This record gives sequence, structure tokens and C-alpha cells, in this order.
Amino acid sequence: MTAPVPVSLLVNGDPVEAIVLPRLNLADFLRDNLKLTGTHVGCEHGVCGACTVRVNGEIVRSCLILAVQAQGSSVETIEGLSDSGEIADLQAAFRERNALQCGYCTPGMLITAQDLLKHTSAPDRGAIRDHLSGNYCRCTGYQAIVDAVEATARARAERST
Ligand code: FES
Ligand code: FES
Repeated sequence: MTAPVPVSLLVNGDPVEAIVLPRLNLADFLRDNLKLTGTHVGCEHGVCGACTVRVNGEIVRSCLILAVQAQGSSVETIEGLSDSGEIADLQAAFRERNALQCGYCTPGMLITAQDLLKHTSAPDRGAIRDHLSGNYCRCTGYQAIVDAVEATARARAERST
């Protein structure tokens, strides 16, 4: 068996040092080692998007990278985006538009939607669907999710004019 190795990174702005097995993926590291259970694990194959986090500002599937590969990186989870208030309006829109059912896909949907809204000021429904197409909702609440993202995009555009 391969020996554990040290890893150090920033998670939601806080320095984290740990000793991990080289085979431990980032999703399991966040959930099991750091108790950041907002990062969900669905497929463990990079298909469903439930495990989406940001690494150095880019969204990634945390089930597809190893914790040791995040060495020296800045990782942001749904807890970080939520606590900072960065996605407060998006979260409110999900509540108001009934875009939450079981909530399992929601953290990944929120992080992915925020990624779109950061890079595109007024995405249309097609662009929203396209950007969220790698995130599966087992409750099939897609219409309401697109509604919530569209409403947030409109509100942000109005606030910036
Ligand atoms: S658990 Fe990572 S993409 Fe599904
Ligand atoms: S709300 Fe249940 S999986 Fe999307």
C-alpha cells in the first residue's frame, strides 16, 4: 500500500494541512476529512456535477481530482460561497422559484450557475441550459433551476446599470 503523504492548501480561505492517502479524491477529502458535506458525491465518475467546487477560481469535478493534486491550490466549496454572501441572491432565487426539491444537486448547480453568471452578464435560457448541462438533477427540476438562474442574471444586470 502506498504511504500517506502531506498536503497543504487553502479551503475557503483557511490554510489546511493534512496527511492523506495518495488515492483519496478531493471530494472525499472535503467531506470526510474537513466535514464540508455541502460538496455532494453522486456518480464519482465526473458525470453528475454534484461534487463541483472551485479550484483556483475554475469549477472542477472534485471526484475527478486527487486531494494531493490540490496541493498549493485555493479550493472554494459551497460553504465558502454561501458564507461569503457571494451567491446569496442566487440562493434566494432558488428558494423563490422552487428550484430545490431534494437539494442533492443544488450545491453543484449553484456553483456552476455562479460560474456562468461571473463570465456572462446576460445569458439567455439556452446559454444557461448549456452551462448547466453537465449537472444532473435526479428530481428533474431543470425548468425551475433555469428560471432561478435567469432571474438572478436579470436582477444582477439591473443592479449594475
Ligand atoms: S460525483 Fe463528481 S461528477 Fe458526479
Ligand atoms: S433537487 Fe433533487 S437532485 Fe436536484
